[in-house]
Amino acid sequence: MAVIINEENRMFQLITDNTEYQFQADEYDVLRHLWYGEKVGTPMSYLLSYPDVGFAGNPYDAGNDRTYSLHTQPLEYACEGIGDYRSAAVSITHADGSTALDLRYTGYTLHKGKYSLTGLPAVYADEDEAETLEIYLKDTASETEVTLRYGILAGYDVITRCAVIRNAGTEPIRLRKAASLCLDLPYGSWEQLHFHGRHAMERQAERLPLLHGVQEISSSRGTSSHQQNPSVILCSPDCTEQSGRCIGAFFVYSGSFKIRTELDELNQVRLLLGLNPDTFTWTLNSSEIFETPEAVMTYSGSGFAEMSHHFHSIIRRHICRGKYKLIERPVLLNNWEATYFDFNEEKILQIAESASELGVDMLVLDDGWFGKRDSDTSGLGDWFVNEQKLKGGLPELVKRINALGMQFGLWFEPEMISEDSELYRQHPDWAIRIPGRAPMRGRFQLVLDLSRTDVQDYLFRVMSGILDSANITYIKWDMNRSISDLYSHALSPERQGELSHRYVLGLYALLERLVQKYPDVLFEGCSGGGGRFDAGMLYYCPQIWCSDDTDAYERTKIQYGTSFIYPISAVGSHVSVVPNHQTGRITPLTSRAVTAMAGSFGYELDLGLLSEEEKNAVSEQIRSFKSIGPLIHNGSYYRLSDPTKDNYACWSYVSDDKETVLVHGMLFHAQPNMKQAALRLQGLDAQACYTLSGTDAVYTGAALMNGGILLPPYWGDYSPVEMQFRKVHEI
Ligand code: GLA
Repeated sequence: MAVIINEENRMFQLITDNTEYQFQADEYDVLRHLWYGEKVGTPMSYLLSYPDVGFAGNPYDAGNDRTYSLHTQPLEYACEGIGDYRSAAVSITHADGSTALDLRYTGYTLHKGKYSLTGLPAVYADEDEAETLEIYLKDTASETEVTLRYGILAGYDVITRCAVIRNAGTEPIRLRKAASLCLDLPYGSWEQLHFHGRHAMERQAERLPLLHGVQEISSSRGTSSHQQNPSVILCSPDCTEQSGRCIGAFFVYSGSFKIRTELDELNQVRLLLGLNPDTFTWTLNSSEIFETPEAVMTYSGSGFAEMSHHFHSIIRRHICRGKYKLIERPVLLNNWEATYFDFNEEKILQIAESASELGVDMLVLDDGWFGKRDSDTSGLGDWFVNEQKLKGGLPELVKRINALGMQFGLWFEPEMISEDSELYRQHPDWAIRIPGRAPMRGRFQLVLDLSRTDVQDYLFRVMSGILDSANITYIKWDMNRSISDLYSHALSPERQGELSHRYVLGLYALLERLVQKYPDVLFEGCSGGGGRFDAGMLYYCPQIWCSDDTDAYERTKIQYGTSFIYPISAVGSHVSVVPNHQTGRITPLTSRAVTAMAGSFGYELDLGLLSEEEKNAVSEQIRSFKSIGPLIHNGSYYRLSDPTKDNYACWSYVSDDKETVLVHGMLFHAQPNMKQAALRLQGLDAQACYTLSGTDAVYTGAALMNGGILLPPYWGDYSPVEMQFRKVHEI
């Protein structure tokens, strides 16, 4: 049993293999959060003791007890307007214009299996892998009801959360905020680790102490964004990869979001994660409900590595879906950096031929194959083949590529429309823009109103037409601008605040139809690289192009940040030419390869232009990836350095049985007279002996984890690290 309920004390314990989460309905029916951390087995309410804090109001029903305040108590789902001056999880405007909401406990249900959400991605599980607890709350003075849902996946140390708001009254209410997760931590000292960035430089890890007041991570761009990722980690100040406490949370959502961390006057922390209230309102008529997207959280008492392992497993096994979720992905070659818009069928075939000779499995034709699309100024929306570029059309090209023994994949940017397109000339009202106001352009393009079913139907029809016309087994689903000028011709004025969320629901509806109709097609997400790298997209696309920056040195940092939350198999990563197109940097081919192998591997260059020696190296890389790929994707991933601080990036993959350990990485900048660094490994069997491939040397697991292994000497910049260890025997 993952959930223990004490009916008498109205106490709930959510127990996973290694963690415990507690809350309780107190004597005033207020749902108080008590604990998230190690298994403790005791109600942690004994830790809650509050003085009469000045200017912290007291609820009426607390009578003369001035020590009981909603402003100081840890709350499971904090409300607005009733004397808790910290950030609220939920805000509504009642029909009379008032905004107070005082949710109190009314009951619960518990059942086997994991709840699902309507039209939204969420963790899924078999009946016997999860339990669902629903807690019912109701406002003291109105007919507003909230159900808090908890999905407990005990074997993964994961708890999922969402909230359902119901208008049980007769008049409409307006929802202005509805967090998916509210977590009050009345104990401990916490720092915050999050992942910020910009285009071509996503998910840079940044760790900071909390300041008194509010810190926010958010996106109002309509996508999860390059700038902030919808994930956060709260950790103890002493937390490292292998020790210390940390709570991680991510949002299973691909649109605007807000994560708010508040350190209050009593040094208590409140974490809120959910839809971004800055771009959200929702009208609930009588009897209507609103389901928030899902948040996923985990706790580790042994540092970040264990936390990441929980997240990697849950995302890989219970969020990603479809044929490719656990199997090897094709090694692909994408023509974007090889040709940009300048190609024809001969050029593509020539690239495919040299790729097939070296063992590449799939040719992906990127932007430029459709409509009038010779630059990024036109053509989006016109999803029919540009026969001037591709004579004979796609069927002929795909046939010839298949004849080389290769699969064929295709790029789409379905959510966009160019003003210079047939589609815009026919349906100007399908673009998101405000009547009477010049729209913002991003990369010269406008965004299609995906909240509209006619737009979804059009895209489904034209994309199906293309997919049915040829043997296409992969789609790269791109999205290359942020959304602005929010307005839909299909929504009434009072519902315009719903567009941002309705857009994402429309996107998910379209993706769902396509992944259901084409179960054998591998979908890869993309948004100018990793601008929509989130668990929502991973429900439809088991891999996402991690960044438009293919410079291996920069990629070590981008992929380092990404790895805290997302599994390696989700990371689209390619070897490209040098000097690199984004930075001008020159890195050795092997370093580019080991970095790209930390993901779903591929190439992004014309392999035919390489020297014979380089071609041999590429074919060896592909052979090698085919043999080590399963370990890379299925093994446990360890970050062995912090590339934002250390002069090297190293990481490893350890097989479940701890028999095989692969260490990859890159030494950054050489200096004269450098002492060789000792790299401490993680996750080995301390009591076993390991041999380093290519040598006779044997080391105990304990030696490799505590003392380490010497990294190769620095010679030149950005040289690769490749070491494989095998267990030889127990001690
Ligand atoms: C985005 C993607 C690139 C490429 C281009 C094509 O920037 O991230 O990989 O597909 O669009 O326009």
